[in-house]
Amino acid sequence: MKVSIIGGTGDQGLGLALRFAMSGEDVIIGSRDIKKAENAVDVIKNMLGKEEIDNLTPMTNPDAAAVGDIVVLTVPLQAQMVTLKSIKDEVEGKIFVDATVPLETCLGGKPTRYVDLWEGSAVERSAEFLKDQNVKVVSAFNNISAASLTNIPEDVQCDCLISGDDPEAKKAVMELAEKIPGVKSIDCGALENARIVEKITAMLINLNIRNKVKLAGIRITGL
Ligand SMILES: NC(=O)c1ccc[n+]([C@@H]2O[C@H](COP(=O)([O-])OP(=O)(O)OC[C@H]3O[C@@H](n4cnc5c(N)ncnc54)[C@H](OP(=O)(O)O)[C@@H]3O)[C@@H](O)[C@H]2O)c1
Repeated sequence: MKVSIIGGTGDQGLGLALRFAMSGEDVIIGSRDIKKAENAVDVIKNMLGKEEIDNLTPMTNPDAAAVGDIVVLTVPLQAQMVTLKSIKDEVEGKIFVDATVPLETCLGGKPTRYVDLWEGSAVERSAEFLKDQNVKVVSAFNNISAASLTNIPEDVQCDCLISGDDPEAKKAVMELAEKIPGVKSIDCGALENARIVEKITAMLINLNIRNKVKLAGIRITGL
């Protein structure tokens, strides 16, 4: 499977691209600007200390969406709709993963506060926008911090809470998430449960700030 990261030049997208590339996936880093995507590929090569990596490709966001089997959106809330518009035609029929968290920072507020959206959650906003595209929408990677993704060679001590209405798509994303060492995928049920999962991120950021750390994560026990 080819994994395309839309907004892959940012903290979260770059961290996911790094981990998926390390696990041997074919990864495409998308950006509005091809030069930024090329730079992100160079950053990952430097982090890995390897010049020759053939499973990491820079592209513009629409081109990245067109070639990916799984398309992962990693942009701030304020960029969500404009980015979706730029890739709408390219994601037809694909698995689309949204990692967007609606934080108050998108309105100039605090990163520890969640912003309620009319659609219920950021991923449901994407699903509503893409409803005529036959896209299988999945919510994932909201609670895994970029700091832990880029904290190589350490494992990522965090579960990946995954919500979605298409069982096959959810299974594919659960398998992808578990390619990241240390991550366990948790099936959280229907897409609407992302309303709860997205909110957890605001709390994790709060815990990071209160404890002066960067790696706060969540584990589900007893299943
Ligand atoms: N950072 C984390 O630890 C973390 C953890 C969990 C979830 N998340 C969520 O993941 C998403 C991405 O987070 P991030 O920290 O990676 O964000 P970011 O670094 O601020 O932005 C990611 C990318 O989005 C694109 N972008 C930014 N502003 C834009 C705009 N106004 N219009 C269009 N594109 C724009 C940029 O890509 P180009 O300029 O290359 O196009 C940028 O590199 C957010 O929704 C965040 O809540 C983040």
